[in-house]
Amino acid sequence: MRDLDAQPVGGIARRLASILTARGIDPAARLTDPAEPIPALQAAQARIPARYQAAVADHPAVAAWVREVAQAGRPGPEGAPGIAQGRSLLIVGTTGTGKTHQAYGAVRSLLLAGVRLRWKATTAADLYAELRPRPGHDGERELIDLARCPLLIIDDLGAAKSSEWTEEITMRLINRRYNEMLPTLVTTNLGMADLRQHIGDRVASRLTEMTDKVILDGPDRRRSLAAERRRIAATA
Ligand SMILES: Nc1ncnc2c1ncn2[C@@H]1O[C@H](COP(=O)(O)OP(=O)(O)OP(=O)(O)O)[C@@H](O)[C@H]1O
Ligand SMILES: [Mg+2]
Repeated sequence: MRDLDAQPVGGIARRLASILTARGIDPAARLTDPAEPIPALQAAQARIPARYQAAVADHPAVAAWVREVAQAGRPGPEGAPGIAQGRSLLIVGTTGTGKTHQAYGAVRSLLLAGVRLRWKATTAADLYAELRPRPGHDGERELIDLARCPLLIIDDLGAAKSSEWTEEITMRLINRRYNEMLPTLVTTNLGMADLRQHIGDRVASRLTEMTDKVILDGPDRRRSLAAERRRIAATA
């Protein structure tokens, strides 16, 4: 008979438990997200990159933003609150501090909170690649879609090579979202002075007004996780 509750044994179990504990996950906790599956969250999971599918917005300022956005939601057709106008977030930190994790964690938390949510996520580099004029592709329409999307994640702003064209695209996108007061989650490795240099003063000025700034100043979690794995392997 198959044991449906089979547990990993010995060294593997200890290693797994240490890795989960190092990631801030209770190894004894059941892997059940909500009691009832939430269809919107299930649908969203398909669009969330594998690495961030269990991400939780555990930074207090990000969690507070999620609560604020959820509370401001307007009731939609089926009674569930939909996302409304609201403040945006600028998540700043050096590489590996967990910016992308917090951004996807915020989307998951909003869906878990029952907010009806149309959202899109892109890195700045992918955004410019996608919008670059080319035959048979309506970049203008894509830009308007992104500008109107109720919640937009722009990951790694300032990481792509900049030009007059990228500045103009960023300005048009951010300006529309600024004007319509649509919540936007922006992550960046750059401080404000460098970001201003990279994306232009007019975008930086709008971001300063429209966003709450969250600074992630921890270590590079990738290197910490790798060191932890090496330590565990050495003691197992
Ligand atoms: N709060 C967290 N709890 C558990 N794991 C986390 C947390 N934040 C980040 N991680 C993990 O740490 C690693 C780095 O996180 P992430 O990719 O979000 O960093 P980043 O700041 O976006 O880095 P980069 O600037 O290079 O894009 C990933 O493996 C991620 O799953
Ligand atoms: Mg990232």
